[in-house]
Amino acid sequence: MDNQLTIALSKGRIYKDTLPLLEAADILPLEDPSKSRKLIIPTNQENVRLLIVRATDAPTYVSHGAADIGVAGKDVLMEAPSDNLYELLDLQIAKCRLMVAGPETPKPHGHRLKIATKYINSAKAYYAQKGEQVDLIKLYGSMEIAPLIDLADKIVDLVDTGNTLRANGLVPEEHIANISSRLIVNEHAYKTKFNQINEIVEKFQSAISNT
Ligand code: ATP
Ligand code: PRP
Ligand code: MG
Repeated sequence: MDNQLTIALSKGRIYKDTLPLLEAADILPLEDPSKSRKLIIPTNQENVRLLIVRATDAPTYVSHGAADIGVAGKDVLMEAPSDNLYELLDLQIAKCRLMVAGPETPKPHGHRLKIATKYINSAKAYYAQKGEQVDLIKLYGSMEIAPLIDLADKIVDLVDTGNTLRANGLVPEEHIANISSRLIVNEHAYKTKFNQINEIVEKFQSAISNT
């Protein structure tokens, strides 16, 4: 089918928050990825399917044209910029902030600041722009643990309600960037499937401005 349209989404909050937008574009998934083990989900539109991918992988699928469009957090797009894709819309979903956080009472230390983060490139750029030399430690999740057990002095992570920081005795210290999810579109697909993609973009856009 040449008019097949493939949409890359991650499960969890991005899927949940994109669902109303898909609905506004008359795209209704036929299965719920939180219940199904299926990773390619058909929709009510025979030529539209969803790929359920890891949040950090969505730009990769779109960049390579394995998916025509997708949804990715700005944190992911900033951390690893991809070629061959347009960031067409700010979907205003999965909003949070990329921040530096640390213990309420910082421990004195005689070394360069150690920062644990999954966002190595964003943290590097942030501290470079401040002119501060730090040591970065790559983690893949649960960053909040690092300052508690002296793996690092501070973390760079996403903050929404602040509950995770509070629950671990940490406080937000510096704001790096506001984050929300973006509609990303493969450059080639945007040309060859313009009408199909543009219809979705317009319907998403009007759904966003109505919320
Ligand atoms: P993985 O489980 O594959 O490591 P992840 O933790 O990045 O992925 P999610 O937690 O679903 O997956 O996050 C997806 C996107 O949602 C992030 O890239 C970010 O843009 C946004 N996000 C993450 N945490 C929050 C939060 N607490 N509140 C609001 N938005 C968030
Ligand atoms: C994210 C993020 C923080 C938390 C912040 O984790 O990595 O830990 O949310 O949100 P809060 O300020 O509202 O507490 P997530 O819930 O995605 O868990 P994860 O470790 O599975 O990614
Ligand atoms: Mg997460």
